[in-house]
Amino acid sequence: MPTWKATACAYSNIAFIKYWGNINDELRLPVSGSISMNLDGLRTRTTVDFENDLKSDAAVIDGKELPLGPALDRISKHMDYVRKLANNPHRALVISETNFPTGAGIASSASAFAALSLATAAALEVRLTERELSALARLGSGSASRSVPGGFVEWYAGTTHEASYAESIAPVDHWALTDVVAIISKAHKATGSTEGHSIAASSPLQAARIASAPQRLETCRKAILARDFDAFAEVVELDSNVMHSVMMTGNPALFYWLPTTLTLMETVRDLRKQGVGVCYTIDAGPNVHCICAPDAAPKVIAALQNIPGVLELKQATAGGPAYVEA
Ligand code: PMV
Repeated sequence: MPTWKATACAYSNIAFIKYWGNINDELRLPVSGSISMNLDGLRTRTTVDFENDLKSDAAVIDGKELPLGPALDRISKHMDYVRKLANNPHRALVISETNFPTGAGIASSASAFAALSLATAAALEVRLTERELSALARLGSGSASRSVPGGFVEWYAGTTHEASYAESIAPVDHWALTDVVAIISKAHKATGSTEGHSIAASSPLQAARIASAPQRLETCRKAILARDFDAFAEVVELDSNVMHSVMMTGNPALFYWLPTTLTLMETVRDLRKQGVGVCYTIDAGPNVHCICAPDAAPKVIAALQNIPGVLELKQATAGGPAYVEA
């Protein structure tokens, strides 16, 4: 008799080469590949319990029961993929906790859907490879595909469900980079990434972004493998700027930056000119991820902590793969 209950953990990740736009919104097949680093300590822990004979799925997120609506539907739909593979129609209770504030500008959908994928597959005893788990997580949130493998990760765009998955390109201990996240707003973003991806194609700049993505991916991959911070910093900032240019020129235009975002970008660039190994990257929000070379984080924190508008600085080094708790 199977236990039909399992718990899994996954870390958030920060993209160095970004994912923005799909060729297939339903399957979340991206227009181009992306590269990221898992963030140690910024974790979601999810238990999926099929044991109780529930009439419909239920979810308790950070201690609060989810009401009926789109968030619960997204979780149910995700578990449907695994139920289909297991040929098991049972409904589940999902209990999930994220140890960083989800409104704090660090993506929680990546760690959440990676953990949900592993826990659901384990609970229903569906044996999947890491590659298959990554592709499964992608169906819930594209960036979740990158939270399944550990360390430094590349998501290959692919043009089919099976071919669109992420794998590790370097292990956790390959390079001691630190992400110092400068949180300047805790408000939930006005336009979420699912909607943002569908707007991306309306920007006249998206075609150029897609055409030049393979080159940035290669430069970034090589810089990570060679631990070449200067080359890394240049391509990471370029890629973030290119993505935000697309966001700002779509229909509707999406402006995620606040004045303090620009102040922080300028401060980071000045620090680098002074020889401090740091570069910025920004997701679909105003907060600034400052990626620091080994030993640079204390200098970066000293420079950023007194900037007006900076509410909090969070630090994370490279994190491991998602895992099922024994
Ligand atoms: O996985 P999603 O749909 O939340 O998209 C993530 C989009 C960015 O964070 C802006 C970029 C990325 O690659 O993580």
